[in-house]
Amino acid sequence: MEEVQYLDWSNSIQILNKAYEAGLFVLIIGPKGTGKTSLVRDFAKNKNINLDSINFSLRTRESHLIGTKTLKEGTVSFDEGLLIKSMKSGDMLYLDEINSAEADVLLRLDEALDDRRQIVLKESTGEVVKAEESWFVVSTINPLTHSGTKELPPQLLSRFPVRIRLEYPPENIELEIVKKHISGNHESEILQAIKLANTLRQAAAVEELFYSPSLRETIAFGKLLDKGMSSKQVADIVFGNVYAQWGNIEYQKVSDIITSMFGN
Ligand SMILES: Nc1ncnc2c1ncn2[C@@H]1O[C@H](COP(=O)(O)OP(=O)(O)O)[C@@H](O)[C@H]1O
Ligand SMILES: [Mg+2]
Repeated sequence: MEEVQYLDWSNSIQILNKAYEAGLFVLIIGPKGTGKTSLVRDFAKNKNINLDSINFSLRTRESHLIGTKTLKEGTVSFDEGLLIKSMKSGDMLYLDEINSAEADVLLRLDEALDDRRQIVLKESTGEVVKAEESWFVVSTINPLTHSGTKELPPQLLSRFPVRIRLEYPPENIELEIVKKHISGNHESEILQAIKLANTLRQAAAVEELFYSPSLRETIAFGKLLDKGMSSKQVADIVFGNVYAQWGNIEYQKVSDIITSMFGN
């Protein structure tokens, strides 16, 4: 898929630039689909720096970060993990959804991220790996309402003294973003879909609904209109049907909203 240029509506690139120049690590906080990953990719691309990414989950192990011993043709060697590789190369490291990692993994990260920026390879030779001067780390966390996410330990939070908060954009800006991703001209229908998305987001924020649609949904809405589908049908498919997961009452609530906005 072709890369769409990031629309920097909240001046985040400037903050990333300043943090990079000051050698400070950055934490981006915001719900899914608010452009966190695209922001980081766009920044790295424009700065022409190499970007290594780790997407954290409960299954992420220390060995993914640090590395593993391997046996090749009778000799033991060490396959370096992404964290070690990135420290040595001085690249940019993107730690995505860091708050879904297990405590032991976070502890190891903390070791590398403290002011000395070094880590002891106790898994291998005991060598001390020191990060290159240019090493830059950006991580993201989802707000605590997301299932599977945990609170980040305070000392780890303090390794990222620059914090960027990304929320869903204002309507007119979300419209501009969606338009970057599509070819057709469906401005009024898309604006209606954004209003629907915001209604559902607000309901989810006060726990009246279980799911909050992101920019991925409003973009998908535009893309299906490009394919000639009707806005009512697309609204059902992209926004409505997912709520059936929580039963018929939840689904019906949203279905009624869609009908009131897009007709029958
Ligand atoms: N400011 C923006 N400019 C361009 N595209 C954006 C912007 N914000 C979000 N998007 C698009 O929305 C979708 C979700 O963004 P993504 O970066 O994956 O979100 P996150 O990492 O926060 O879950 C992607 O298709 C992305 O290209
Ligand atoms: Mg992401």
